[in-house]
Amino acid sequence: MASRFGLSLQLFILFIFGDLVGTDSLDGLHYTSPDYYPSPNGGWVLDWTSAYEKAQSIVETMTLAEKINLTTGTGYFMGPCVGNTGSALRVGIPSLCLQDGPLGIRATDHNTAFPAGITVGATFDKALMYTRGVALGEEARGKGINVLLGPTVGPLGRKPRGGRNWEGFGADPTLQAIGGALTIEGMQSTGAIATLKHYIGNEQEMYRMNNPLQQAYSSNIDDRTLHEIYLWPFAEGIRAGVGSVMTAYNDVNGSACSQNSKLINGILKDELEFQGFVVSDWLAQIGGVSSALAGLDMAMPGDGAIPLVGSSYWGSELSTSILNGTVPVDRLNDMVTRIVATWYKMGQDKDYPLPNFSANTQDRTGALYPGALFSPTGVVNQYVDVQADHQGIAHAIARDAITLLKNTDSVLPLSRNASLKIFGTDAGTNSNGINSCSDKGCNDGVLTMGWGSGSANLPYLVAPHDAIARVCPSAEFHITDSFPSNVKANSRDIAIVFISADSGENTITVEGNHGDRDVAGLSAWHNGDDLVIATAKIFPTVVVVIHAVGPVILENWIDLPSVKAVLFAHLPGQEAGDSLTDILFGDFSPSGHMPYTIPRSESDYPSSVGLLSQPIFQIQDFHKERLYIDYRYFLHANITPRYPFGHGLSYTTFTISEPIFSVVAALSEYPPSRPTKGPTPTYATTIPPVSEVAWPTNLTRVWRYLYPYLDNPAAATSKAPYPYPTGYSTTPQPAPRAGGNEGGNPSLWDVIFTVKVKVTNTGSRPGREVAQLYVELPESVLGVDIPALQLRQFEKTDILSPGENEILTLSLNRKDLSIWDVVVQDWKAPVDGQGVKLWLGGSLTDLRIVCDVGNRVCNGV
Ligand SMILES: *[C@@H]1O[C@H](CO)[C@@H](O)[C@H](O)[C@H]1NC(C)=O
Ligand SMILES: *[C@@H]1O[C@H](CO)[C@@H](O)[C@H](O)[C@H]1NC(C)=O
Ligand SMILES: *[C@@H]1O[C@H](CO)[C@@H](O)[C@H](O)[C@H]1NC(C)=O
Ligand SMILES: *[C@@H]1O[C@H](CO)[C@@H](O)[C@H](O)[C@H]1NC(C)=O
Ligand SMILES: *[C@@H]1O[C@H](CO)[C@@H](O)[C@H](O)[C@H]1NC(C)=O
Ligand SMILES: *[C@@H]1O[C@H](CO)[C@@H](O)[C@H](O)[C@H]1NC(C)=O
Repeated sequence: MASRFGLSLQLFILFIFGDLVGTDSLDGLHYTSPDYYPSPNGGWVLDWTSAYEKAQSIVETMTLAEKINLTTGTGYFMGPCVGNTGSALRVGIPSLCLQDGPLGIRATDHNTAFPAGITVGATFDKALMYTRGVALGEEARGKGINVLLGPTVGPLGRKPRGGRNWEGFGADPTLQAIGGALTIEGMQSTGAIATLKHYIGNEQEMYRMNNPLQQAYSSNIDDRTLHEIYLWPFAEGIRAGVGSVMTAYNDVNGSACSQNSKLINGILKDELEFQGFVVSDWLAQIGGVSSALAGLDMAMPGDGAIPLVGSSYWGSELSTSILNGTVPVDRLNDMVTRIVATWYKMGQDKDYPLPNFSANTQDRTGALYPGALFSPTGVVNQYVDVQADHQGIAHAIARDAITLLKNTDSVLPLSRNASLKIFGTDAGTNSNGINSCSDKGCNDGVLTMGWGSGSANLPYLVAPHDAIARVCPSAEFHITDSFPSNVKANSRDIAIVFISADSGENTITVEGNHGDRDVAGLSAWHNGDDLVIATAKIFPTVVVVIHAVGPVILENWIDLPSVKAVLFAHLPGQEAGDSLTDILFGDFSPSGHMPYTIPRSESDYPSSVGLLSQPIFQIQDFHKERLYIDYRYFLHANITPRYPFGHGLSYTTFTISEPIFSVVAALSEYPPSRPTKGPTPTYATTIPPVSEVAWPTNLTRVWRYLYPYLDNPAAATSKAPYPYPTGYSTTPQPAPRAGGNEGGNPSLWDVIFTVKVKVTNTGSRPGREVAQLYVELPESVLGVDIPALQLRQFEKTDILSPGENEILTLSLNRKDLSIWDVVVQDWKAPVDGQGVKLWLGGSLTDLRIVCDVGNRVCNGV
């Protein structure tokens, strides 16, 4: 979400330029978003039946004001959380608290600051992905948060300079999907509602929102690319039962995500059969009737075009549009039913705590509604400690994500009596205090996370400096980014140089970077390259440790003879130091793998994934590279990166052997017919009496607070015709053939093939190995171009002692073997796997087994 405002002129400008910024064409494709109406009602999917029954039984008793209350935020800074809905206390529903974020509870205390999503992705460890989700859910619940605003699977990582890629799990749909789905399952096992975001195409921070001079950029994405790349993790998250989905700020095909009927009604709610509720990103809503008809269910934080003045696109305006017949009562009932059903589905009707913290202040007492200026006050922070034993989870993830890129002469691990000289401020701590920069809007001391709403306060920080000093008391520290002139090296010295690269949300500019790395590019910050080079000139042995949000170009020093080892430690959160010393000194072997490609040069990427910048008129961001992002592009263009996706060394060695290929089910060209759609709750559709939204006589009004009530409700009942969008209809669309259950046709998840492999530790130290499974699909059979290799599954071993082995089973479902057929609008597979090859190994360039599916046989490479 965003937390700043300044779009007062937006409507004016949109009006003036509206006609000039529409769609454009490329390769014969016209990027427009078709109308898709009406919004499909939720409630027919089996898994949700009982929750919808409970919801229906109370929604049918609710008044118009109560219903509107649950759909609309009470306004910016109008309650304890970053977002708060109105309540319907008469029927037992409190104000719902929505709070960031994906790596920890934002803007509070006594919470855990977990490693960021990108770090979790680098573990390739499904158990840790799930466990972190459980811990995040427990912390949300402990603070009284109903809806936790994570995980992030969009941005997916298309743009290497993109500001928020680090919140997600890596630049691959499968890695993103498995990370997201397991996080959701974990979070929701605790009763907290997870929010999958940002739907969709939000691959750049700059110009993501409407501003006084221009409309938010438009991500122009063709149908197949949307399905096979960007939508993939959303589909898996919906299949995992996610309770809420957040729309993105940007447009797709020239239509804002918060009111794009094709995206919400068509793809999310019909094709993917999403049963929960759709919430806007903060201030992303740009129209009231339009967003309601397009399928938005909850407006956050509730404010209209000009925040903080007590106006809303919904709230009392939604009351009006129900009374005047423009928004069908049926649509409002579905919005509310979805919200209440989700609340029941997670069990929030049973002993769920109310918020006991304030995202607005750290003081014990304060304004209950700071946005009101004149607000009642009270106890707002109870400082509830929700950390439990989550430190261990944070530590394990930070450690198992550390990725060993290079280790010449086995210089790592270090011995505890090594003569160490440490350089770089990234080894230290922020001297102004670990939480001194709001939302981590600075890069000072070890980089533990990026900045913006996806950050959290650190409860404590073990910096690398502290952890190394504890293990190796003789280590000498130079916590500076310019190489000190007085340092002398002797031949036994080992220098460790810490460098970093940061990014974040567009609301904060850090060292000139507007969220995206627009100024820093893919270089290390603070002249990190110079520090490495200066150190490497003097010291015979240099170890480089990198904390980074995404790809960093290493070419200025990676081949220097004294640069012997490089550890990529991603964004470790509060456990930065001890997780690193675990690896540096060999208590554990590194087992992280790169969740994206490290190129040799930024120019190795397709030019279409660069940042776009333009002062006026809408930016048209054509996804010209289509399916070919990150490693898919490098393979396609035959460019050798510095380190491929999936790369990660260990202190030991492994073999992957004795593959056993099994056919579990037959594979037809298209999935069997989808299940037919069942009934959804029905309600009376008569327009409610105007008295239901009249101001209660005894209400103590809070200034600027968003209420559902109208001064003169009777005046709202005019029946003038409304200029609906061209494709508007109230007759339900035929059920899409690709739908059928949460995530799509359930047979897409039928397991078709499995491969069992034996992973053996053949080295001399304990360690863990990841088996990555890449699918090669036959272009000739499927009749379209297809990326050469695509990650579709992975499994990680436990810690194996030298000589020990473990059998891993990797399974592939129908969808893993399919492409999106844009004509048939369904997933198409090569019959029985004809022409399919499966590649298994420790990275994209370390493929050790190939299975020829047609001949049912696997061999060593
Ligand atoms: C966007 O336009 C492309 C090109 O016409 C089309 O393939 C795709 O389905 C459209 N997507 C949406 C969400 O409207
Ligand atoms: C709507 O929500 C507000 C804020 O929680 C509450 O004061 C008001 O009573 C609610 N209205 C109804 C009809 O429940
Ligand atoms: C009904 O009310 C909504 C909200 O104020 C408004 O946008 C819409 O134009 C109204 N419809 C008619 C037919 O006046
Ligand atoms: C705050 O959280 C604690 C622990 O989760 C809970 O016992 C308490 O009831 C909550 N406070 C409120 C006001 O609900
Ligand atoms: C560390 O100790 C080992 C033996 O315990 C010794 O062989 C080695 O030379 C020592 N290294 C340094 C840098 O003192
Ligand atoms: C306001 O009046 C209604 C209806 O008379 C009553 O149910 C409610 O409890 C009153 N609320 C307050 C805060 O006095």
